[in-house]
Formats: sequence, C-alpha cells, structure tokens
Amino acid sequence: MMKALILSGGKGTRLRPLTYTGAKQLVPVANKPILWYGIESIVAAGITEIGIIISPETGREVRAKTGDGDRFGAKITYILQDRPLGLAHAVKVAQPFLEDASFVMYLGDNLVQSDLDLFIDKFYSKHLDALTLLREVENPSAFGVAKVDEHGKVLQLIEKPKVPPSNLALVGVYLFSPSIHEAIANIQPSARGELEITDAIQYLIDGQKNVESFKLEGWWLDTGKKDDLLAANQIILDSCLDLTIKGEIDAPSKISGRVHIGAGSRIINSTIRGPVNIGNDCHIENCFIGPYTSIADETTLIDTDIEHSVLLKGAKVIGIHQRVVDSLIGERAQVRLAPQRPKALRFMIGDDSQIELT
Ligand code: G1P
Repeated sequence: MMKALILSGGKGTRLRPLTYTGAKQLVPVANKPILWYGIESIVAAGITEIGIIISPETGREVRAKTGDGDRFGAKITYILQDRPLGLAHAVKVAQPFLEDASFVMYLGDNLVQSDLDLFIDKFYSKHLDALTLLREVENPSAFGVAKVDEHGKVLQLIEKPKVPPSNLALVGVYLFSPSIHEAIANIQPSARGELEITDAIQYLIDGQKNVESFKLEGWWLDTGKKDDLLAANQIILDSCLDLTIKGEIDAPSKISGRVHIGAGSRIINSTIRGPVNIGNDCHIENCFIGPYTSIADETTLIDTDIEHSVLLKGAKVIGIHQRVVDSLIGERAQVRLAPQRPKALRFMIGDDSQIELT
C-alpha cells in the first residue's frame, strides 16, 4: 500500500515577515492552507497513511491546525526533523514511518493541478524506482533541473544549476520505491550542507535503476514567494471556489460574479465583484472588493477599495480609498488612514516588511 510523505518543515524565509509567526505551508490560498491542498489530492488518489515532516519552529502550529487526519479521511503521523538538513534527510528521518512502502513525497508549499492517479499508474505499471514530475519554466536556475531523453527517461538531475541543461524544473512531487533509502544512505551533503533529494535520485540513475519523468502540462505553483502566492490565489479562485453565501448582505450592497461569503460575515453598503472568497465573521462596510481577493476570517474592511490581494486572519484595512492591489496583508496587521487627511505618515512596520506608497 502506497504511503505519502509531506514536507512541512523549514523556516519560510522567502515569505518573511508573514512566516515569522507562521509556517509558510499554512499561509492560505483562497482561505485554505496551502498544505491542505496537497493532503486532499493525496487522499483523492486513495492514499490515507500520511506522514508530515515538521520543524521545531513551526511544527506545533502545523499540527494544531491540521489535526490527526480525521477531517480529510486520513491518518496523519507527525515526524519531527530537528534541523533543516535537506529533503533527502527528511526521508531518512521518516524511514521508520515509511518502512518498505513505496511513497509519494509532496513538498508542502507546492500546489499542483493534476490528479496524482496518473503519476501513480505510470509508477506501478512501469515498475519504477522513482518518478519525477517536470514542468517547463522560464527560470530553471531557481529549481532542480532535469535532462531527459525523448522517452522521458531521466538522464541527469542538477540542483539549482547556473547553466541549466534544459528548462524542465523538478516539481515538488515525487514517487519513490523503497530503493530510495539505500540511495540516501550513500550520498553526501551538498555545498549548501543539505542531503539533496536530487542527488539521491541521481544515485539511482547512476545505478541503472528505473527513473522516469512525467511532464506536467497543467499549472504548478511553488508558493514560497509573494507573487507566486497571489498567482496561486488567482488560479484557485478561478478553478475551485465554493459559491455558498452564508453571511448577511444589506440591501444597498451589490454582489456580482463568483463569490463565497462565510457564516457570520456582514456586508454593508459595499460592492463585491468576484471571484472573491470572504471567510467567516468579517465586517465589510463601504468597500469595493474587486476580483481575485481572498479575505480570511475575522477581517475588518471599512471605507476601502481592494482587489487582487490576500488578507490573512484578523487583518484590518480602514479608510484606504486609493485602490489597494497585489497586496498580501498578514495576520492581525492594520492599515488605516487617520480620520483627518494626514500631514505626515505614521508607521509601525515589522522587520522585512515592504511598503510601497504610490
Ligand atoms: C526544492 C527542490 C528542487 C525543486 C523545488 C520545487 O527546492 O530542491 O529540486 O525544484 O523544491 O519546489 P527548494 O524549494 O527547497 O529550494
């Protein structure tokens, strides 16, 4: 029976400052943690034994939010990786959980459109030792890169190459037979001091094992950075938005397009033009909320115009009539204009924040 290993460790430095207080895998896309999309797609492929790798920094939060798997119809085992020593190191730490099962390894900050069934079928029918997912990208140097022959057989993998041998990046979803454990036991840490999964797969290739690839045509997002997160939000709002409206909407408000409004939310004298996802217990008054905006629970928006943005739980935006666009606003963060037109700007801004006044 195939198992799954999801990697949800790390410190998420590229999403700072959001990830000072939270795990990057828990940042919501359309009001659902990124990590949960991976879990749901694994369960949809019939895999219910899931191990999640967590770090000392964010593990408690990942665990508290995600639970024992009941809500997904799965059994989740949490596995602590006490130091970020690489993806292959995470597999090593998870070996007692994985035993001698084949498994899908899923990086918890990746979002992949396709069903996993296709990859699993290919993995079993061709008796593979490893199956990698590849996708054409414009900036291959930012990823692991593969050189493949015309049948999709993987010839070489290189992690973050300066001179990429192709434009095929390794997507953060892999299928492995238990032979990966022996490969990991035989590799050395890379220049960045990590046990790289790419090196372990290369070891299999060098040992004449069966390593093939699957070229993804659908979208794939590595949500580690702000613009990727906004892109993921846009794609998810376009493709899977639950259109229930539970909150209260007063008579002057206008709702058009595809919109979700959660329970306990109040929409007062506002225009909402979908796709928009509004969570529970939000207060929205005298606002324009434009397309591709996700607003998490308990958020307050008053006298504000906003679109193509993501607001996390408990954020407050008040009195901003200049349209807010392409923004990511963290948990409990506040953006407000003073009641009188200010002569000066007054800030309290966390480390690594980025404010653009235009
Ligand atoms: C990791 C892998 C890389 C892969 C990428 C996909 O990189 O090492 O091969 O292309 O995930 O998201 P990281 O995000 O850890 O830099």
